[in-house]
Amino acid sequence: MSSALHPDGKLKPHDTVSNPSTQDNIQSLIEARMLTRRSFIKGSVAVTAVAAVSGTLLSGMPLDAFAHKGKGKPHQDEPEGNGSPVIGFNSVSPNVLPMTDAVIVPAGYTARVLVSWGDSLTKAPHWDPATPMDEATQNYCYGGHTDGMHYFPFPFTGKGALASRRGLLVTNSEYVDPPLVNSILPAADYANTTITLDMVRAQQAGHGVNVVEIEQEKKQSWEVNRHSRLNRRITGNTPTIVSGPAAGHPMMQTAADSKGRVVLGTLNNCANGYTPWGTYLACEENFNGYFGTSDASFVTNAHENRYGISRGGFGYRWHVADPRFDIAVNRNEPNRFGWVVEVDPWDPKSKPVKRTALGRFKHESAALSVDADDRVALYMGDDERNEYVYKFVCAQKYNKRNQRANRDMLDHGTLYVAKFNADGSGIWMPLVWGQNGLTPENGFANQGDVVIKARQAADRLGATMMDRPEWAAVHPTSGEVYLTLTNNSRRGNNPVSSNKVDGTSGAASANPAVDAANPRPDNDYGHIIRWREDGDTVTATSFVWDIFVQCGDKNTSKTLGASYTQAEFDGQTVGYKGNINGDDYGAPDGLWFDEDGRLWIQTDQAGDAKGDWVNIGGNVMMCADPQTGETRRFLTAPPNAEVTGVINTPDGKSMFVGIQHPGEDWSTSFTDNSTWPDNGANGPTTNSRRGVAKPRSSVIVITKDDGGVIGT
Ligand code: FEO
Ligand code: CA
Ligand code: CA
Repeated sequence: MSSALHPDGKLKPHDTVSNPSTQDNIQSLIEARMLTRRSFIKGSVAVTAVAAVSGTLLSGMPLDAFAHKGKGKPHQDEPEGNGSPVIGFNSVSPNVLPMTDAVIVPAGYTARVLVSWGDSLTKAPHWDPATPMDEATQNYCYGGHTDGMHYFPFPFTGKGALASRRGLLVTNSEYVDPPLVNSILPAADYANTTITLDMVRAQQAGHGVNVVEIEQEKKQSWEVNRHSRLNRRITGNTPTIVSGPAAGHPMMQTAADSKGRVVLGTLNNCANGYTPWGTYLACEENFNGYFGTSDASFVTNAHENRYGISRGGFGYRWHVADPRFDIAVNRNEPNRFGWVVEVDPWDPKSKPVKRTALGRFKHESAALSVDADDRVALYMGDDERNEYVYKFVCAQKYNKRNQRANRDMLDHGTLYVAKFNADGSGIWMPLVWGQNGLTPENGFANQGDVVIKARQAADRLGATMMDRPEWAAVHPTSGEVYLTLTNNSRRGNNPVSSNKVDGTSGAASANPAVDAANPRPDNDYGHIIRWREDGDTVTATSFVWDIFVQCGDKNTSKTLGASYTQAEFDGQTVGYKGNINGDDYGAPDGLWFDEDGRLWIQTDQAGDAKGDWVNIGGNVMMCADPQTGETRRFLTAPPNAEVTGVINTPDGKSMFVGIQHPGEDWSTSFTDNSTWPDNGANGPTTNSRRGVAKPRSSVIVITKDDGGVIGT
């Protein structure tokens, strides 16, 4: 995305030297061990994605399988009865210049706004977007920049149709654009404005997690139940428990929390996860950007550099008014962010819990998988250029009969990091204190050190540097894991370098050569990788992998810049045209399988349909058939908006999708680019009668006009 507050890694590297690479022809490596799509997907059905079930911690009711499971028709090119899902809609056109300021879905579908930033979740009035946001108002209104989400069917409605008509929509509010919160426009003026604590508090209140009870009154008409006692905002200041190996660790202790066990709030919750025991997982991503200092003499140390902590941060300037975010004053506070946070949406009084056993990094999603032996694993990406893919395997089996027994299972288990070998095999390397050099002489005195410094631990083990790992998704029957690698402008840049084994690399400072798992230099359009655990057990320490797709533009004129290694393209047939079987897209980010096995892919690029995106247009949600690779464009977003967050109701007939930061561009007033959603393009909003003041991130609900399953 284009915001300085959420760097997209597209800053152009500046070093230009001759090519020192000795990499073999990468295409030959790929082809030498490439599994065909069909053989890959037709593996064992022993593993079940958690997407197949949904339950509640508090209700103690049995889990409900999705109602339409197994009813997807086989694809027309496949033999009858093979279970392949069908994609039944006609593609929408790309949103190219001049862009349409609306969400567009295929003929026969309707997309309506459900809830937007600033909509009241109580009986109190909605926020008026023409005014600055304040903390008190934001604390009862839907948060900023909606992102990952999950729908929890209402527990008291059991398996009946009501489960798909009443539920809790739980969503992340990843970040805010401060000029919109504080009404300082044009946006560029924020950098020089006088920052007050009230301004910062309003911004912090716009972060976190939303729990929103929603109901479908009639077909296509979903509403927020503003009377629900379950509606809740968790913000950047909500007391949050620290559990697991880092709880109480000296690096987690601050003056305000000498025991290192209670953090104020959760920040930059990007993608998400959800558990079969009825909880929601919010993943903290670019937490580093909130910290800074005005102390020009302050020097960051290697640990801070490894996580991208800097004096300037991303430009929020919170440290000016809130010393909690001044790294020269409160040096351990950044260690208290970068975690997976578990939320019980059914108990509005419950405190969120930072599950530190899952490691500290720029968490994207936490996709949970349960195997036939009831073992549980979570797959997680660290979204920064050249970072790693992780897996956490719970020590305890999932207890179907007693949901409360699962309550703390994310505190105990083994964290692994992935190595993708060139021959199509891979290994999970344990990040366990005392093993593989994770020892005191290398800076790891205990498992708390290992999880707080997970990046440095993974450096020491030689994990594979990836092209920005974003969301993971688990196929609902095969258990294969797909993961988006959104882009990497440093891949193939010169001079070639790797993350240092001693953990002293600066964040996103290396220039890795291409490798089999990340085969394109200046990987602008990104790709999707997938793997299958050996033995179809989530506890495996080895796997096989291939690349599902290299994204791109079949009509692109993009060529490799001079600072990259041109020879790394030699022998490759894919280039920037990609190998998509169907409609083109790039920068894949959000990823989710529906119950019929359709793969939904959401993108995050600049969204202005310019430059490398002139043919692809703005951001999109695609639908792919994992067996054939066939891919169609299902949704296009308004200008400068990202599409992120998706979930269906259990019957598959209502789909919720997040549209984030419409119009975002710090060089303008945002309305120059977009007036969505209050322009009414996708139905009335809480503010459409008053007129447009600011574009607002929103959740939309998509239904099929014939009442059918989304995607058919
Ligand atoms: Fe917030 Fe990695 O996207
Ligand atoms: Ca994302
Ligand atoms: Ca992203």
